[in-house]
Amino acid sequence: MQGKLITLEGIDGSGKSTVVKKLQENSELRVFEPVFTREPTRGTLTGNAVENAIQSNTDQLAELFLFTADHAEHLAKLVKPALEKGKTVISDRYSDSRYAYQGITLKNRLENPLEWVKYLHRGWTVVPDLTFLFDIEPEIAVKRCGKRGEQTKFEKIEFLRGVRELFLGFAAEEPERFVIVDASGFPEDVEKKVVQKILDFVQRD
Ligand code: TMP
Repeated sequence: MQGKLITLEGIDGSGKSTVVKKLQENSELRVFEPVFTREPTRGTLTGNAVENAIQSNTDQLAELFLFTADHAEHLAKLVKPALEKGKTVISDRYSDSRYAYQGITLKNRLENPLEWVKYLHRGWTVVPDLTFLFDIEPEIAVKRCGKRGEQTKFEKIEFLRGVRELFLGFAAEEPERFVIVDASGFPEDVEKKVVQKILDFVQRD
């Protein structure tokens, strides 16, 4: 039987990575031997290219293609083989990050970047079975993560506000796939909620 694909999404500073570490150590989840992974991938040719692009002032369309190439590599080498073996795959960021982030970074370059980026994935990506959206006010998130690259604090908040709106729009469009988690609370409480939902989901069928 095909395994389940679970993804974790949210704006920078949502505390997602802290919770992911907790999930990796969680004994209730360990019973299922889930495969933990992430996008951008780490230690791969495509993941390294993405990392270099993020650190430098790379053209935003070029950045989209690097993120998307990394997704293709991630799917081919890790996600699909694991799902085919019946494994539960838990990915820290996945395609919805591209739709939301590049949906904003490309808004001055393309007429409808969100639809365009989604179209780019059509026919070959694997749609997650369950997606947690770690939702948080951009003001709180920015305080948590500091500033990225050249952006001022104000630009960063404005940027993340746009990304968050897109994420919330996806959740509204697909309520059966998305679970919105209030990420402003303690990581332990967020962990508890996420673990319970994952267990309910995996044990459902
Ligand atoms: P990380 O902080 O989860 O390592 O992700 C790195 C940054 O890249 C983060 O700001 C989100 C962004 N990102 C995109 O813009 N597009 C994508 O497709 C992915 C996976 C991440």
